Amino acid sequence: MEPLLLQISSGILLIVKNYTGDRLNFGLAAEQARNHGVAVDMVIVAEDCAFDRPSKAGRRGLCGTVFIHKVQDHSFVGSGLPGTLGVSLSPCSVPGCLPSFELPPGDMELGLGIHGEPGIRRSKVSSADEVVRTMIEHMTNPNSQSHLPLQSGDTVVLCVNNLGALSCLEMSVVTRATISCLEARGVVVARTMTGSFMTSLEMAGVSLTLMKADQEVLTLFDARTSAPAWPNLSSVSVSGRSCVTEAPVMSSKPQDDTQNEGPLSPVMRKALEKICSTLLEKQEELNSLDRTAGDGDCGNTHAQAARAIQEWLQGHVVPGCPGRLLSILAGLLEEKMGGSSGALYSLFLTAAAGHMTEGRSNTAAWATAMHAGTQAMRRCKSRELDELMKLKTAPPAEHMAVLQAAVQRAASGVESTRDLTARAGRASYIAADRVTLPDPGAVAVAAIFTAVMETLQTGS
Ligand SMILES: *[C@@H]1O[C@H](CO)[C@@H](O)[C@H](O)[C@H]1NC(C)=O
Ligand SMILES: *[C@@H]1O[C@H](CO)[C@@H](O)[C@H](O)[C@H]1NC(C)=O
Repeated sequence: MEPLLLQISSGILLIVKNYTGDRLNFGLAAEQARNHGVAVDMVIVAEDCAFDRPSKAGRRGLCGTVFIHKVQDHSFVGSGLPGTLGVSLSPCSVPGCLPSFELPPGDMELGLGIHGEPGIRRSKVSSADEVVRTMIEHMTNPNSQSHLPLQSGDTVVLCVNNLGALSCLEMSVVTRATISCLEARGVVVARTMTGSFMTSLEMAGVSLTLMKADQEVLTLFDARTSAPAWPNLSSVSVSGRSCVTEAPVMSSKPQDDTQNEGPLSPVMRKALEKICSTLLEKQEELNSLDRTAGDGDCGNTHAQAARAIQEWLQGHVVPGCPGRLLSILAGLLEEKMGGSSGALYSLFLTAAAGHMTEGRSNTAAWATAMHAGTQAMRRCKSRELDELMKLKTAPPAEHMAVLQAAVQRAASGVESTRDLTARAGRASYIAADRVTLPDPGAVAVAAIFTAVMETLQTGS
């Protein structure tokens, strides 16, 4: 130790978290170094925002210490302290020891320290957005003894710190929620760092640190350093927003909801209702077919889609323009059905919608639209839809016959999928001789066709 210390000419700054043991031991080390003629100074970091009333424990040093490490400036430490608050779903796990406290499943604890000290409040786990809102409110509540004064218009640097056991996915969700919450309060988030900076032995939790920052602090924060653990944010950074920009939400609510119903509206509504009830009835059948080759959720995804459509039908007018309806359904399925099925249906409906513009919604246009939809899914191009193209030329009296033929073709198409070899998706990894049942997706499509035809046949 001694030779190393003596080489340091400009002195040493000890940055110590406010724990009694740390203060004592580092204080002792500082005294010893001074005795060796080394210039030593000590800074105590106590940015814990947990305590809302005076407590004998005192504010602890938490992840904000990492900011002080980077922006080590005495004048700054005096004026613009960061604030930190943690939340966790589990105690930390010290190897070879029992947990320092028990946290029942489904509970979370606010305001813990990093050494396994319990926090200040327990509650039921809720959504990331809600947890983050509670944390920020607690951290900035002016009535709280240890709050961080934060106002609209302030600029901050944010650290979302993994206490040890959260996944990258969870961290990203919390980060996004935090940035949205701060921005909603008019706070400018100038820099964001997300990751494991001050952990607590596998604790399944996260802490948020906020540090008010002016240009000088930002310059210090951005300065490159050879410290191996510092993420050198300046090269990627600037605004935390850039990585968590809110995706444009595909709105399932048409803006022109008020648009009038058309003559087709009642029959389209009936057909949709029938499709939904059919898919819900078939949920188990589709799941069980899917268990052979897929992940057994084909019925569930279709049921999910059916419920989304039912919900939509309850609150909306079916637009008179079929193209508009198809695009609404496309958005709805993309958002609510998910998976490859959602994407395929959405692709089909989007392509079809383009052919059903205002003033072009007769039978021939429907046929062209269905064809365009299948073209968009090329590989899945099915014969029953070729059959439908006859609608373009058939006289109206024969329309029902054409439809019936198409439904028939769909049913035999389902049978032929028994011998198909999957080219993509999970089924493609399964030996072909194990797949002898019809494809559940084809069964679903045939059921949809039948539902539409039955609706039209009843003449409503
Ligand atoms: C550090 O903690 C002690 C209690 O251990 C407390 O009295 C003191 O006020 C705290 N320091 C700061 C700067 O908050
Ligand atoms: C940050 O940059 C410095 C030099 O510019 C480099 O020495 C250091 O290793 C970098 N840190 C990381 C974590 O990559």
